[in-house]
Amino acid sequence: MKKIYVAPSILSADFANLARDIEKVEQAGADFIHIDVMDGHFVPNISIGIPVVKSIKKVTKLPLDVHLMIDNPEFYADKFIDSGADILTFHYEATKNPKELLMKIRERNVKAGISIKPKTNPDVLDDLYEYIDLILVMTVEPGFGGQKFMPDCAEKLLYYKNKISSGILLEVDGGIDEATSKIATEKGANVLVAGTYIYKAENIERAIFELKSCGN
Ligand code: DX5
Ligand code: ZN
Repeated sequence: MKKIYVAPSILSADFANLARDIEKVEQAGADFIHIDVMDGHFVPNISIGIPVVKSIKKVTKLPLDVHLMIDNPEFYADKFIDSGADILTFHYEATKNPKELLMKIRERNVKAGISIKPKTNPDVLDDLYEYIDLILVMTVEPGFGGQKFMPDCAEKLLYYKNKISSGILLEVDGGIDEATSKIATEKGANVLVAGTYIYKAENIERAIFELKSCGN
């Protein structure tokens, strides 16, 4: 039985009641809180930033899994770490020197994550595995919740599963629900991000349970 971690994306939460919505998923068995940071440049949407991460840190004991969809992540990494990120993931496509940034994040005792967009070839990370704690495979174009899972992208999970050591977390993000989570975990994912599926569920506890049990 493989351990599956569930990371609800607060992008689908009610921002006017964020503390309440974080508490809901924490009580329902979530493992991490997934925070989507968008800058209106790297992706065509703007979400939340440093002060909100700082506030979230005060209302949950769960690790903060911060997904930076921003340009110039090297400039902001320290600020997000100071705000309470426990896992800090940036996009391969957004930086010229991914190795340097991964090392910088690790030096701060934070897990270093790197993500690739749907059109990016998985082999771009081949020289970087020893510096990576988490690989985030996007199964939608980053920028918005509620999109349809792209099955072709899930093949990249299998690519990494066959290459990496078990110490690296393999996270999938975009269109994850009861059915697509099964595809993703079969291909090797062990961290499931889900926004719409969890926050729009009638029974959040049940939804998280369904995702957790898809590794069995
Ligand atoms: C998309 C974000 C996702 C998003 C997932 O750019 O990275 O985390 O919130 O939302 P769903 O689960 O609705 O596809
Ligand atoms: Zn995300």
